[in-house]
Amino acid sequence: MSDIFFNNTYSPLTSSELIEQEKSMMDQKRFDHCVRVSHTARKLAQLNHYDEDKAALAGFIHDYAKQISPTEFREAIKTQGFDQELLNWSPAIWHGVVGTYFIKRDLKITDEEILTAVSRHTTGDTKMTTLDKIVFMADYIEPGRIFTGVDEARQVTYENLDNGVGYQLAHTLEHLINRRSKIYPRTFDSYNVWSIKK
Ligand SMILES: [Fe+2]
Ligand SMILES: [Fe+2]
Repeated sequence: MSDIFFNNTYSPLTSSELIEQEKSMMDQKRFDHCVRVSHTARKLAQLNHYDEDKAALAGFIHDYAKQISPTEFREAIKTQGFDQELLNWSPAIWHGVVGTYFIKRDLKITDEEILTAVSRHTTGDTKMTTLDKIVFMADYIEPGRIFTGVDEARQVTYENLDNGVGYQLAHTLEHLINRRSKIYPRTFDSYNVWSIKK
């Protein structure tokens, strides 16, 4: 068992039920990533005077739906009131936006701030709360990340959370463009807002 514990303020599930449920949804590699994101989110919360326990939980569950099958995602999009335009995208986008449905269903978490942070963690958004930024950045700079520029990303983020968001969006766009990948419009819009250095 990992060295994590969640007080059950945000879910009727106990801490170990929550951890076990998450574990059942993903492989060990993904689970370890979620634990590291949780720890990093806690650290960023402390630095930014935000509720550490809430940030740790949001970080832990951010990829809850990452390994759900495309068929299940499509079904949820069609039946759970999501924008049907989402069907034109892929699990990379779905696991955040549509992931909230599975989190509500299985983990019984209804806190809007947590759900929004999960929803925005892959694309960012033009408006982001402190928790949105914490989860977005913790996912990017957790200690397991090894991409070129990660040290700079960490330094920028620990110095100023908003600049971290700008850094990540710029680098993600660069990466997607280099691969000629399709870019989710919200990611473009977010870049235009957050690229400005504070
Ligand atoms: Fe993710
Ligand atoms: Fe992640």
